[in-house]
Amino acid sequence: MAETETPPTLPQSGEPGTIAVDVGVPKGDVTYHPDQSGAPPKLRVSHLSVTYIDRKGNRTEAVRDVSFDVLDKPDSGEIVVFLGPSGCGKSTILKAVAGLLPPTEGEVLVDGKLVTDVGRDRGMVFQAYTSFGWLTVRENVEYGLKLQGVKKSERRKISDQILKSVGLADFADRYPKDLSGGMKQRVAIARTLVNNPRVVLMDEPFGALDPQTRWGMQSLLLEISRAENNTILFVTHDVSEAVYLGDTIYVLSQRPARILHQVDVPAFPVRDIALKSAPEFRAVEKQLLDLIYAPSKS
Ligand SMILES: Nc1ncnc2c1ncn2[C@@H]1O[C@H](COP(=O)(O)OP(=O)(O)OP(=O)(O)O)[C@@H](O)[C@H]1O
Ligand SMILES: [Mg+2]
Repeated sequence: MAETETPPTLPQSGEPGTIAVDVGVPKGDVTYHPDQSGAPPKLRVSHLSVTYIDRKGNRTEAVRDVSFDVLDKPDSGEIVVFLGPSGCGKSTILKAVAGLLPPTEGEVLVDGKLVTDVGRDRGMVFQAYTSFGWLTVRENVEYGLKLQGVKKSERRKISDQILKSVGLADFADRYPKDLSGGMKQRVAIARTLVNNPRVVLMDEPFGALDPQTRWGMQSLLLEISRAENNTILFVTHDVSEAVYLGDTIYVLSQRPARILHQVDVPAFPVRDIALKSAPEFRAVEKQLLDLIYAPSKS
C-alpha cells in the first residue's frame, strides 16, 4: 500500500489515549508454500487472529481464526464482501490485510508473499474520508504517483483518466472542502486505484452516503472492478449492498469476528438498479438474512 494511504490518526503503541496491539509470538517461516504446478492464491488469509491490548493491559479480542483464499482470476474482477455487525472486527481484518496491524496469530499472504508491512500491492479506502485538504482533487489523486517519481506529464495523463472514470473531471482543480461526501469518497477511491494495487481494501466506503448517491457509487465500483480486474475486499453491514456487489460474501459473527458462512452469489447477467427488486436478488438477500438471524449461529 502506498505510504499516502496511511491515515494520520492511526493509533500508535504508547500514544496517550490510544491502544497498542498485542503482536503475539514473533513469526518464523511462512507456512504457505505454493504448489510448484500452480500459482499461489492472489490473497491468502490463514488463521488470522488479532487481539488489541490497551495500556492498562485490557485485552479486546477482535478477530479469531479467520481463513480464506481469493484465487487469481486474471480475466475478471473479484469482489469479496465481509458482512457483519458493528464492532465485530471487520475493519480489523482489513487493517491486518493492509499490513497496518500485525496479526496476533496467523498470517496474510499476497501472491504467496508474507505481508509484514504496508505495500503498493494493497490499497485501502478507509471508513472515514482521508483526502488531503490542502491539495486539490488532482493533486490528491497524483500524490502516490509523485512519490513513486512518475513524471508530471505521465501523472497528468493517468489522473485525467481516473478522474473521468469516477466522474470528477470537472472538479480536478477544486479542494476537498468544496465537494460533497460522495465526491470526497470518489477522490479517496481514485487516489487508491491510481496506484493500481493488486488488492483493494474498502472499509464501508459508502456508509455515510444517501441511498441515491450510494447506488451510483456501487455501480461505479462494479464498472471499475470489471475494467481493472481488481480484487476488492469490501466491508459493509448492508445486506443489499453485499448482494449487489459481492461475488463471494463472508458472514461474520459478533466480536471476535469469525467466518460463520460463505455465500457464493450467482453470476447475475446484469447488475443494475432494477436487479435489486428482482426475485433472484431478493432470494439471496433472504438467504443472508436467514443466516444472520438464525439464533443458533450468532
Ligand atoms: N485501536 C484499537 N484499540 C483497541 N480496541 C480496538 C481498536 N480498534 C478496534 N478495537 C476494538 O476491536 C473491536 C473490533 O473493531 P473494528 O473496528 O474492527 O469493528 P468493525 O466491525 O469494523 O466495526 P464498525 O462496523 O462499527 O466499523 C471493537 O470492539 C473495537 O472496540
Ligand atoms: Mg469498521
